[in-house]
Amino acid sequence: MNKDKKLLLYTISGAAIIASAYIYFKRRKMTTEQKYSQIFSQLSQEILSFKQLRQSNYQLKYDKLLYLATFDENNSQLTLEEQISFSDIDALLNQGACSKEINPGGCYYECFDCSPAKQENDQALNGIEIDVINQIICEECFKAQGHENHRIKRHEEPNIVKAYCQCGVKDLIDRKCFCNKHQGFDKIKQLYEDQVFKQPKLWKGVEMFLVDSFYYYIENVSTLMQQKLNKKLDENTYNQKIQGINYFIQLIINKINEILELNPLSIYLISKLLSKPFDKPISFQIKRSSEGKYPQKYIRLILKQKEINQDLTILDCLLLSYEVISDSTSELLSKLLHSLATADEKFSSILCEKFFRMIGFIASIQKSQDVWIYKSQLPTFIHVIMEKIFIQSVFDHLLNTLGADIFNPIEYIAFYIENQFNQSKLELNHIFILLPNVCFDMFRQVKQIKSLMQRYPKELVMAINNLNHALFFNNAMGFKDQFIDNQFIQSHYNTIYNSFQLINIETQLIDAQVFIFQAIKLINDEELTKNMMAITCKNFKEHIQKISDLTEKKENRNENFYTLSIASFTILPYLVATSEKKIFTKASIQNFFNNNFNFKCEEEKIKFMQCLRKVLSKFIFFNSGQLRGFLPFLSDLSAEIQEMVQQFIQYMNNPGYRIYDIYILVSSIILLADNNSNITTLNTQPQKLISLLQQVDSQENLFYLYYCYVQIQQMLLDSTPLFNLFSQKLQLFFPEECTSEDTQIKKVIKKNIEEIIVSCIKKSDFQKMNFNDLKEICSVYIIDQNMIKQYSNEVLDQEESKEFIFLQKQYDQKLYTRHLLRANIEDISQVIKNQALKNKQSNEKYTFAGSDFSLENLFPYQQDIFKKIFFEEEYIRQIINLYFNTNINICAKKSIHFFLFLLLKLLTQKDQSRIFNLQERIQIEKIIKILPLSKLQEQVIANKQLLQQQLNNEKFMTDEIFEMLKQLNQD
Ligand SMILES: *[C@@H]1O[C@H](CO)[C@@H](O)[C@H](O)[C@H]1NC(C)=O
Ligand SMILES: *[C@@H]1O[C@H](CO)[C@@H](O)[C@H](O)[C@H]1NC(C)=O
Ligand SMILES: *[C@@H]1O[C@H](CO)[C@@H](O)[C@H](O)[C@H]1NC(C)=O
Repeated sequence: MNKDKKLLLYTISGAAIIASAYIYFKRRKMTTEQKYSQIFSQLSQEILSFKQLRQSNYQLKYDKLLYLATFDENNSQLTLEEQISFSDIDALLNQGACSKEINPGGCYYECFDCSPAKQENDQALNGIEIDVINQIICEECFKAQGHENHRIKRHEEPNIVKAYCQCGVKDLIDRKCFCNKHQGFDKIKQLYEDQVFKQPKLWKGVEMFLVDSFYYYIENVSTLMQQKLNKKLDENTYNQKIQGINYFIQLIINKINEILELNPLSIYLISKLLSKPFDKPISFQIKRSSEGKYPQKYIRLILKQKEINQDLTILDCLLLSYEVISDSTSELLSKLLHSLATADEKFSSILCEKFFRMIGFIASIQKSQDVWIYKSQLPTFIHVIMEKIFIQSVFDHLLNTLGADIFNPIEYIAFYIENQFNQSKLELNHIFILLPNVCFDMFRQVKQIKSLMQRYPKELVMAINNLNHALFFNNAMGFKDQFIDNQFIQSHYNTIYNSFQLINIETQLIDAQVFIFQAIKLINDEELTKNMMAITCKNFKEHIQKISDLTEKKENRNENFYTLSIASFTILPYLVATSEKKIFTKASIQNFFNNNFNFKCEEEKIKFMQCLRKVLSKFIFFNSGQLRGFLPFLSDLSAEIQEMVQQFIQYMNNPGYRIYDIYILVSSIILLADNNSNITTLNTQPQKLISLLQQVDSQENLFYLYYCYVQIQQMLLDSTPLFNLFSQKLQLFFPEECTSEDTQIKKVIKKNIEEIIVSCIKKSDFQKMNFNDLKEICSVYIIDQNMIKQYSNEVLDQEESKEFIFLQKQYDQKLYTRHLLRANIEDISQVIKNQALKNKQSNEKYTFAGSDFSLENLFPYQQDIFKKIFFEEEYIRQIINLYFNTNINICAKKSIHFFLFLLLKLLTQKDQSRIFNLQERIQIEKIIKILPLSKLQEQVIANKQLLQQQLNNEKFMTDEIFEMLKQLNQD
């Protein structure tokens, strides 16, 4: 046997000691059992007053205990090591799993055809792709198996944390896809059963020894906790005991590891014993509290009178007292748990379940303001949970054993954000980074969401809204007044830093909400849809009212803030789409609100609309002048901070996260939702525009003004929010409009995507590119790569070699700027300028709206916003009057100029019968009448000089405005 002799090293000499000890006890009429308990008790006393120097002594004693536990008079010619060892090495050849660690920077593979989870979800998803990693196969195993003709993906992640090759693990990889070196665990399991059958006494002894070890450990931990609660210990004593406790558990784990090395089959012995309750009385107990609200749902009790407790397994007890476990112990324990979960699928389900239970009460422990409690924030074995959580059988186990407690981790995150976040320490927080991966995996499998919606729809919606609520108020920038000094910047620096960590939660929470609606559509069950719509609408209403009220209270206390979280609004577009089944129009949006919210009277509806506008206006973009406005101040500070703020803005605009998209589409929906309000109602962008125009006195207000106008343009012109929110799902949500032949909507979609492709290429200015380059360029604006592919033929030609693609000639001078509006405005101006310089000779005009601009190419809801804003006579009159005001600042003039441009675009298209009905055309005539056309022409010419010194694009705009005015004047 070539096993490393370091194993059981103390026990080799120990054998003789034990044999003599045995005789000694016998003489003293002490049974082995009694002595065994006596030594255990002594050992625990000694360890609890842990002394570094005595380590070998502890180990010797501990080894003695194992000997006593397994001592067999009839078998004394074999050493314990020999008895435990599994000698038939050949039988284990090529069995088990790989478990090779993937190093940062290393690569691994995923095989679609070998992943049970992928295949199951693929059917349900009906062609929609979601990007989630379900497998890790190391290079070696991947090559050994070959995966011929399989659909595979190669991953390379420089920042990977704790990933192990899963070849040989049957829940994660189809058995027929194991490489020949890792044939899984079936044979090992069989051998284990045989072994227990052959040596029952030995293995009973080992089991007893380990169970007792845990028993002493747990009981000593609970005693210690009780003493601390009763304040019977000073901090030093407590810490020393904690050190001893950690030594104790490490002793146990190391012994288990020794046994496993001698005998790999015994892994099943370990997983079984951890999953069983103690048969002796213990002092831990868990009580469900009557209030039942997180984090007080469960209370951990430490009983004076110990009781036999069938509800708590050994594993439960370990996790219940996890706060005493140090980082290094946690590391050691997770390695063990990882091996157990890899070999034993039943155990991996149990481990996930216990983790979810643990998360159910750790908050109440952390809440106990205890300064010297050991706060290991999350157990290291969360990596094991992350690896297994999406498996269907694990999910089924969780749902059956936990019920609605399956939402514990989501509730915990919400609680944690609300209570711990304010401390704003600038360090990496694993709760923000890792826990979301456990919370939200069940939302990626349609079958799992379906079970959740069937069994716990209310709890599901509420758990999500709690987290929405927590993010709304805590992922926020507070300010007392507008005064910007170093302290202000520093506090915002912290907020932004922490916000970066919260991104992970924010985006996964948004995704989860999107997945829920996607699943509703895919499942397509009338009853379920109806039920979910009723519950989500009711909850959405309550949620918005609640945060609106709280916001108001804060504002009354002069606690102003901007929130960086938009997650609360995620579902609104999907609710409207699910209810109305057509691409948004003013009518469908209003219909949705009337039909789904059970407003008792008109006042209630008006009040709710106010709440919606109020809550949305707290989002940082509504005042994004503020966000961009303090950039220049920060630039004095450090390059690092500036870089971070820049990155932050990029994150906000990234289509993959959908933050901008939700904000813009929801703003549009809310603007159209209410027939009672005109556009000068409080907290809408058009209202903000005019109130800012009336008070352009400070530099700060000019920022606001500028970005306020940009936002109106984004709503009116940018097509990408709708595409990104319904990426790959247009047909799912809008089946009639998107599948039947030749609908108007289909034409609009096609036209817009083509324009996006053209503009992205123009912006990138690539000389040569292939299809992957195109995808890359477009991904800054739109996530749906399939659409890009589908429509690229219409605007691109291929080189003969088929290697490179390029724009068709007809697009040489075109630029459809409106689809790029999510980018930084300065960047867009640059694109326009470059394009204009390139095509100096052309008659093409380059403006923000883009070439060939026509209302016909907009989505219906955008046309409706055009009408809503520009049909309001009083509003138009006021803005035009401001244009003639000589006191008004040049920047304000610039904004009015933009406004005028879009107004004239609408007015000059009055003959488009597809867009305007008779009544609307009459309204247009009315508006034209109130415009002082000739006077405006003069003013435009006068301003041209002024504005020409500014940006190039505005020069073109002046020309176009002038021409449109002329045209209207002639008509
Ligand atoms: C540890 O727990 C065991 C079992 O309850 C007990 O016999 C032993 O005395 C305890 N040790 C200490 C130091 O409290
Ligand atoms: C040893 O073997 C004898 C006879 O086979 C049996 O009676 C006895 O119980 C055994 N002792 C133990 C400790 O198993
Ligand atoms: C818009 O509504 C407000 C009240 O909400 C009203 O005071 C105002 O006169 C209205 N403006 C127009 C142009 O109708």
